[in-house]
Amino acid sequence: MKKLFIIANWKSNKTESEAKNWLQNFKVQDLGLTNKEIIVCPPFTLFSGFKSSIINLNSSLKLGAQDISPFDEGAYTGEVTGRQIKEFADYVIIGHSERRSHFGETDEIIVKKIEQAVKNNLTPLICISNKEQISIIAKTINILNSQFSTFNFLVAYEPTFAIGSGIADTPQNANDIGLEIKKFLKEAYVLYGGSVTPQNVNSFTNMPLIDGVLVGKVSLNPQEFSAVIANA
Ligand code: PGA
Repeated sequence: MKKLFIIANWKSNKTESEAKNWLQNFKVQDLGLTNKEIIVCPPFTLFSGFKSSIINLNSSLKLGAQDISPFDEGAYTGEVTGRQIKEFADYVIIGHSERRSHFGETDEIIVKKIEQAVKNNLTPLICISNKEQISIIAKTINILNSQFSTFNFLVAYEPTFAIGSGIADTPQNANDIGLEIKKFLKEAYVLYGGSVTPQNVNSFTNMPLIDGVLVGKVSLNPQEFSAVIANA
């Protein structure tokens, strides 16, 4: 049975009380998770409370950040560093297309963020929305491989038309991109993201080169996210 990563990207959603409510209604213990790693990426304001709840509930949930500073600690107003994230989380999303489109994030910044993640022992989940972005990621990972001992990384294929639209890409297309990614980076775990639902999740996770999904909107509802995990 292959290992699957099911990742919730909450984006800019939920207050502390809403997150507590989500956790109370999310029954991860009942889901039979032998081969599934479940990672929730809430906003930074929820990190501390979320981490305490995970410990109190003795839950196997993992925490991820939605972003990371491209710099070490210092005078960078508003940024959260890899070292600060590592106190709470094990994963970090890097290069989401919403960061490219709303915050002007460039390939150069994304490369620095990947370096910060690896340096701080965080597993990067690098988002790409097309084939052209694969080679720059591969170049960065190969350089880091020569500087750091082996590290895991995930690459999520998220076509922009599918994000939040209710129209997912086809599983075959996602698998074809998975093949391209693994041609350059054979040790990559490849995820699909964009309008994943409880109904369509297994059409993606059944594809041979897809190792999981990145779930936005549907992950905000604990019952629906549980159904995604159960059906994956
Ligand atoms: P969606 O978002 O599931 O709401 O389409 C996915 C993402 O942007 O990670």
